[in-house]
Amino acid sequence: MPHVVLIAPRFLENTNRYVKAFAELPGLTFSVVSADPAESIPAGLRDRVAGHYRIADWMDHAQLTHAVRALGRSIGPVDRLAGMLEELQLPMAAVRDELGIEGLSSATAQGFRDKDRMKELLRAHDVPVARSTLARSHGEIAAFVAQVGYPVIVKPPAGLGTRATYRIETAEELAALAPPSPTQPLQVEEFVQAREHTCETVTIRGVPVWRSGTRYFPTPLEVLETPWVQYCVLLPREEDDPTWTQFHPINAAALAALFGDQATTAAGTALTHMEWFLRQDGSCLVNEVGVRPPGVHIMPLMSITHETDLFADWARLIAFDEFTPKPRRCAAGSAFFRGHGTGARVVSVTGVPQAIEACGDALVEMRTPKVGQARSAHYEGEGYAIVKHATTDGAKHALRALIENIQVRYG
Ligand SMILES: Nc1ncnc2c1ncn2[C@@H]1O[C@H](COP(=O)(O)OP(=O)(O)O)[C@@H](O)[C@H]1O
Ligand SMILES: [Mg+2]
Repeated sequence: MPHVVLIAPRFLENTNRYVKAFAELPGLTFSVVSADPAESIPAGLRDRVAGHYRIADWMDHAQLTHAVRALGRSIGPVDRLAGMLEELQLPMAAVRDELGIEGLSSATAQGFRDKDRMKELLRAHDVPVARSTLARSHGEIAAFVAQVGYPVIVKPPAGLGTRATYRIETAEELAALAPPSPTQPLQVEEFVQAREHTCETVTIRGVPVWRSGTRYFPTPLEVLETPWVQYCVLLPREEDDPTWTQFHPINAAALAALFGDQATTAAGTALTHMEWFLRQDGSCLVNEVGVRPPGVHIMPLMSITHETDLFADWARLIAFDEFTPKPRRCAAGSAFFRGHGTGARVVSVTGVPQAIEACGDALVEMRTPKVGQARSAHYEGEGYAIVKHATTDGAKHALRALIENIQVRYG
């Protein structure tokens, strides 16, 4: 029986979906490393967890290594080390390197995690990407702007969740930017005016066996720049829609470039989350790729539209190199509720009954923001809803009904 160790920092709602997926998978020895005590493992799943090791700092490579080594000694040799969070990908790779566990190595993980290296690798393999550079000073940003013109995007080389990502449109804005340095460089890219899509791909030993895709309305950058705007993700009904399928060859080339000589190993068995731009002229550019399940509820959206449990499917993929592609049966989407106004708390939530009425049967799940709730630091806002419909237009209408009716106010 393979022994899979999952890094589950805290036993929170979303993490527990993955814990459950592995715990309920037959034919597996399953262990968990977490910062929470073993008593926090959901009661129904505890019996299925062979080993648990608690560490104080789940980002600390030394503590992770110590924990995984200990589980290897007490439970049995570790075959796979898994974790969902973007921040964990490099620390986990370092543990694999050190303990000789099959899977993504540090060298390969760097290509996915370091945005500059990612773009260089993709470019070297003729995968279309925005022009970019790693700047160590204002002067280097200015030199790049002289080549590509304003606007440019600046972001941390190993960022996530659109944190500290800015559009710079003028020399004044550039002057106001905290300067990068040799130790804290900034990723600078030409600004791509485009629609933003995702491509989720299951590969087995480097071979793509299944794809799904979504569109962001509006783009994460616009969501961040416009605090009052509500945010939606749409997964269309048509799996053969050329808007998405035209990107598949680029997706394949990008994954081959980034997995490199590890593609045909256990590292190349993965669910990846690729973000890509579709420009007005029809051209596609890869923006970035994560070797992990996607966020913003794309996992449940993929489950709903393919009548499957993608969490369970991912666990089986990682543990056994197996995946059964399922056809798409409907469209789905998620809407994120964000408030108007300033202030640190939600002071009113209106339009919920109207939104429910307008959504009708399309509404699958809704978590409404609550009065008194602290304002979220993340662009996902204070609440969400998930919809499904037999048609893409039906799902779009339901998303619109939600975000047009539900009004959240901060104060
Ligand atoms: N070159 C670019 N042109 C236009 N928008 C960009 C560019 N790079 C990033 N963005 C915007 O910023 C968001 C966050 O950047 P991304 O590279 O995805 O980093 P993160 O790891 O924070 O998600 C993107 O989803 C997109 O909306
Ligand atoms: Mg991104």
